[in-house]
Amino acid sequence: MKAEKFIRSFSDRDGREVVLRTPKWDDLDDLLQLINSLVEERADITRTKKVSREEEIDWLSRVLSRLEKDETFYMVAEVGGKVVGVSEINRRPSGYETHVGVLGIAIRNGFRNIGIGTEMMKTLVEQAQAMGLKVLTLSAFATNECAIHVYEKVGFVQTGRVPEKFFKDGMYIDEIIMANVLE
Ligand SMILES: CC(C)(COP(=O)(O)OP(=O)(O)OC[C@H]1O[C@@H](n2cnc3c(N)ncnc32)[C@H](O)[C@@H]1OP(=O)(O)O)[C@@H](O)C(=O)NCCC(=O)NCCS
Repeated sequence: MKAEKFIRSFSDRDGREVVLRTPKWDDLDDLLQLINSLVEERADITRTKKVSREEEIDWLSRVLSRLEKDETFYMVAEVGGKVVGVSEINRRPSGYETHVGVLGIAIRNGFRNIGIGTEMMKTLVEQAQAMGLKVLTLSAFATNECAIHVYEKVGFVQTGRVPEKFFKDGMYIDEIIMANVLE
């Protein structure tokens, strides 16, 4: 799929237009700010170290190249010309799991709880169907009740739990494994 491909748009609960599209080079600084803001707020994600601009350039060039080759699907959410959300569907190129997509999503603080994550997840599921995927998986910190709620809303069920997978702020946190078997 090409960079900067329009997927769809909708209004968030504050009435602003949200555009879902594939990423482009010009998103670099927004994406860098987004990942580093998540690290800074100590969000329930696995990354704990901030990303340098050079690392982000490497990452985005890999993203755009894999997107063009249809190896992976990436989608951003744009509000008022700024990227406020990022998501992906990863699939192994060969082996016994090519029908499986692994999903990831993050919305910037200040743009949560207004429906963007749910709409992005719905769109990712539709996109996965269009890609011919049969099984979707993802995982979340057990403490991330908001994420688990959103995933359940779009058809994911909890299928497993890895006890004490994460150690954050002096506390062990279980990992919740979720799956969505597509029709
Ligand atoms: C998880 C995340 C993607 C959800 O996106 P979002 O745009 O905030 O989601 P929405 O606004 O569509 O929906 C949020 C839902 O969670 C609910 N919610 C909010 N806080 C909650 C909580 N503490 N417990 C349970 N539900 C909660 C809201 O009521 C809403 O549900 P509703 O629409 O049924 O009322 C977003 O919060 C995020 O990016 N968080 C930081 C990074 C992260 O955790 N990524 C996921 C890693 S697995």
